[in-house]
Amino acid sequence: MQFIAHYAFPMKISIFGLGYVGAVISGCFAKAGHTVIGVDTDQHKVDLINRGQPPIIEQDLETLIQNGVKTGLIRATTDHAQAILDSEISMICVGTPSKPNGELDLRFAARVCENIGAVLKEKKERHLVVIRSTMLPGSIKNTVQPTLEQASGKKAGTDFGLAINPEFLRESTAVHDFYHPPKTVIGTINKADAALVAKLYDGLPAPVIVTSLETAEMVKYVDNVFHALKITFANEIGLICRSLGVNGHEVMDIFCHDKKLNLSPAYLKPGFAFGGSCLPKDLRALNRLAQTHDVSTPLLQGIALSNEHQIKHAIDVIRQKGKKKIGILGFAFKAGTDDLRESPVVTLAEALLGKGYDIKLYDSHVSLAKLIGTNRKYIEEHIPHISRLMVNSPEEILAHADLIIIGNQDEKFYSLIRKMRSDQVAIDLTANANRPDTPGDYEKISG
Ligand SMILES: NC(=O)c1ccc[n+]([C@@H]2O[C@H](COP(=O)([O-])OP(=O)(O)OC[C@H]3O[C@@H](n4cnc5c(N)ncnc54)[C@H](O)[C@@H]3O)[C@@H](O)[C@H]2O)c1
Repeated sequence: MQFIAHYAFPMKISIFGLGYVGAVISGCFAKAGHTVIGVDTDQHKVDLINRGQPPIIEQDLETLIQNGVKTGLIRATTDHAQAILDSEISMICVGTPSKPNGELDLRFAARVCENIGAVLKEKKERHLVVIRSTMLPGSIKNTVQPTLEQASGKKAGTDFGLAINPEFLRESTAVHDFYHPPKTVIGTINKADAALVAKLYDGLPAPVIVTSLETAEMVKYVDNVFHALKITFANEIGLICRSLGVNGHEVMDIFCHDKKLNLSPAYLKPGFAFGGSCLPKDLRALNRLAQTHDVSTPLLQGIALSNEHQIKHAIDVIRQKGKKKIGILGFAFKAGTDDLRESPVVTLAEALLGKGYDIKLYDSHVSLAKLIGTNRKYIEEHIPHISRLMVNSPEEILAHADLIIIGNQDEKFYSLIRKMRSDQVAIDLTANANRPDTPGDYEKISG
């Protein structure tokens, strides 16, 4: 177990909810020299903590709680009012379970906010409320903040501080995770409040990321959903491997060696459907192989469906714009190639053509004049109707279109749409994070 340096400016923190998260952070904050007042409605958990015993089983936690209680830095109570009056920061770590229909149940968090708000009404000093429970984007704006403001008669961000600091620890290694977090994320409406929260983690080897409330709320869900996705992916691959007599562990070990494309930020930015000469066909082949071995792979089967949905979504967005003259900049499946096989932008163009849109396309790498061999043959045999709509310069797209679709990340396209007329609209299908300033309307399809 490693510890952060004893904190130079100890703070007084009331921690609401002494479950897995609350108990662990109580021990860790006390170890750093902060005074912790644990609050729970469960008298048994309160009694355990006051006897120096953790209310949950977690490696190294017993020592932390024991020492904290011995040194007078940890105590627990059911008296929320006194705990708030005796602290500068309240951290909310109560459960946020599912309702029977899957909806998020914010009942416990709302109750704590009512309690805290009622005390803040009387409290003269500025208090900071930090949410550590996992809650969906909008929960703070729609439930936590109004409940606190109504009960206190005070304004969040000015009269009292409000932040969310999602928890990334894992049960069974929670204390170790506290000292080795992947990141510290703080969502807030007031930068000074974020700085105060960040001070609590001084000395920890992790970047501190300050962002909006909603982004911080969302990050926690994205993390957990991705972890669930990874487990399910590995399990489905394992089942296919087993049915083939291939060692799934060895396969995934080799897979994990690739830190460039597999375990990396590659392919993890919102954009448009995948395509090209490899991904669609290889996905189909593996799913078909699984089927022939009676292996069920709902996740892998779902990928193609989800990919098709991206194209349908783009058609809906385009339709809603009410523009009939469309120009497509970049229609190979990615920039820098002339390969049109299974390009989702071509599929999109075909669908729009079928719906009667007046389309022109440009791609600097796909010009019939330049194309040779396989690609020329592919266009002539598979998409002759598309080739007829190709123009030779991006300027022709700008002159033709009321709505411009950016199909792949070619820097030239961004320079061009900066020259759009104010009545022109651009829809960017790419995963490019930059949003250029344009006189016309610019919208990303995703993210
Ligand atoms: N368990 C984890 O590994 C983990 C990790 C990261 C995030 N989270 C999130 O953190 C939150 C807490 O999770 P947990 O596993 O610690 O929950 P938990 O169920 O173990 O503990 C919640 C505690 O809150 C107490 N409580 C309920 N109402 C209260 C009130 N009005 N005042 C004071 N205490 C009250 C309960 O008695 C209970 O002791 C959840 O949102 C969870 O999704 C959990």
